[in-house]
Amino acid sequence: MDLLLTAEHEMLRQTVRDFAQKEIAPIAAHHDETGEFPFETVKKMGELGLMGLEVPEEYGGAGLDTVSYVLAIEEIARADVAHSTITSVNNSLVCHGLLHFATEEQKRKYLVPVASGQKIGAYSLTEPMSGSDAATMRTRAVRQGDDYVINGRKSWVTSGPVAGVIILFAMTDPDKKHRGITAFIIDTDKPGFVRGKVEPKLGIRASATCECVYEDYRCPVANRLGAEGEGFKIAMTVLDAGRIGIAAQALGVAEAALEASLAYAKERQAFGQSIAEFQGIQWMLADMGTRVEAARMLTYRAALAKEAAKKTGARYTAEAAMAKLYASETAMWVTTKAVQIHGGMGYSKELPIERYFRDAKITEIYEGTSEIQRLVIARHLLGTK
Ligand code: CAA
Repeated sequence: MDLLLTAEHEMLRQTVRDFAQKEIAPIAAHHDETGEFPFETVKKMGELGLMGLEVPEEYGGAGLDTVSYVLAIEEIARADVAHSTITSVNNSLVCHGLLHFATEEQKRKYLVPVASGQKIGAYSLTEPMSGSDAATMRTRAVRQGDDYVINGRKSWVTSGPVAGVIILFAMTDPDKKHRGITAFIIDTDKPGFVRGKVEPKLGIRASATCECVYEDYRCPVANRLGAEGEGFKIAMTVLDAGRIGIAAQALGVAEAALEASLAYAKERQAFGQSIAEFQGIQWMLADMGTRVEAARMLTYRAALAKEAAKKTGARYTAEAAMAKLYASETAMWVTTKAVQIHGGMGYSKELPIERYFRDAKITEIYEGTSEIQRLVIARHLLGTK
């Protein structure tokens, strides 16, 4: 599959790998321990163009293709999944949404700072009582003259504690159900926007997550993203792109766990030989390697489908869902085996293996659980949606 990669792709992969291994890997354990947001490395990622990889240069991005995006997220995740979460959400859920649905004026005002890394972007769909069933949201936006007045509570907002720009989904016409949802671009420094409870998380602890509360927040009509009632389609279209990013980060952490396991298995001695010489360990390693390669194929295939869609406008919903489903379950499976191969050391905070295991879990949950991916894939196969 790597044969698909051009010399430019290989160069980008090496550049991001060098950066991530030098700048991110050494600080990952500290940020995991403290939960401090990694402002310094995020700033450097912005300077390298990693916060807006597919955004054209005229809007502050790096102007690269989707395969480059996937390679970059994969390499960042190999060093630290939390950093790749910040990057993936910024790139796909925010930049992709603004690039495709914003007006020229909105792009100049919001896409440029987010794609160049001057501001961090967030995406806000989920509510305390509305997760997988995203269309049941309660946050209301009521038009008053040239503003919408927004009230409600959003949860699990990745980068919420630090975001300068948020793409928010709110109900403008509840009678129309999902067709009554509208998207808005939120300036977080305006009155009425309140950052709520920060989530204490199992993994990706350096990626800050919080509730965001809207209390009579006045959003100008000029900040509506797309038309009234188009919000649900925007949310779903953007999630298709986002799911490829999550697949890439799952692939990255699975690779990191596999590499560490191969090295440890060769080095660790038991019963007079390296544990790599035991068939029980070999079979685990063989299955880990095979699943990683299968996840890579599905993820790169989804990237190619998204790239092709730039010309054809075709949906790549199923490709993205398959990649996310398989890569995230691979990440969880491979990191679980990695802990097992490392034994007690896999359970210890002295090595990054237990962090890989905790970080991998979220990839089966956010941007659509594995159950939602299966639902989307089954509907596609059956032709029912
Ligand atoms: N692209 C474009 N349009 C789409 C679409 C897609 N991928 N999927 C659905 N639609 C359209 C449908 O065509 C339909 O259009 P019409 O109004 O013309 O009929 C409309 O959207 C409604 O579609 P469904 O009937 O399929 O909707 P549903 O209520 O059955 O739900 C779902 C579909 C797939 C379950 C969806 O609700 C879903 O994806 N849920 C999971 C939500 C999710 O991923 N949340 C994560 C939030 S982000 C996050 O994790 C936090 C973070 O910051 C990282």
